[in-house]
Amino acid sequence: MTDTVAFRHLVRATRSVRRFHEDRAVERQALVELIDLARLSASGGNKQPLKYVLSCAASMNARIFPCLSWAGYLKDWPGPRKGERPAAYIVILGDTAIRADCDRDLGIAAQSIMLGSTARGLGGCMLDSVNRRELRRILGPLHGLEILLVIALGTPREEVVIETVGPDGDIRYWRDERGVHHVPKRQIDDIIVASYSD
Ligand SMILES: Cc1cc2nc3c(=O)[nH]c(=O)nc-3n(C[C@H](O)[C@H](O)[C@H](O)COP(=O)(O)O)c2cc1C
Repeated sequence: MTDTVAFRHLVRATRSVRRFHEDRAVERQALVELIDLARLSASGGNKQPLKYVLSCAASMNARIFPCLSWAGYLKDWPGPRKGERPAAYIVILGDTAIRADCDRDLGIAAQSIMLGSTARGLGGCMLDSVNRRELRRILGPLHGLEILLVIALGTPREEVVIETVGPDGDIRYWRDERGVHHVPKRQIDDIIVASYSD
């Protein structure tokens, strides 16, 4: 595989995974190495306002889990059941003393973590639907730090495939009768607004 093909494969394979082998541990060192990818990523003004809380402890994971909302389009699925829950979490925090709005840095860092997770055989899901008040209570004093995003991680226990958004424009993901998760992506010609080339 050329590097370009391998990289495309990595990006394609980096899907949101919401069901995991909960009994397959994710080591703290793996989480640190994922954070290191975020640390090496671009940051506006190189201010680097992002900070992290790591959890691969069953007791802490059990407290974080109820703060999260899963797969809003799957109306009859309340989220992963016991045994399928994430084995680890990365909570991304913004240090508001360094920068008030960390959103662009956040996206870049989060995708670095997601790509790195796939590269090491893990899967993950970014979660913005977070009960931040409750999570803040669980995590304890986070002076000057805002909870931005949670990334759930573990060994994937579900198949996720990419589909093409049809003429009806419906972007909602769905799960078929075999439990395979389908994610529609817009077609390339529908997202290139203008193209200049000699
Ligand atoms: C900023 C952001 C926030 C998200 N928040 C949630 C969430 O709270 N719960 C959830 O189940 N998925 C969440 N997702 C995952 C999206 O639903 C997912 O990226 C989308 O369905 C496309 O699937 P894909 O990641 O496999 O391409 C989030 C993704 C992003 C980028």
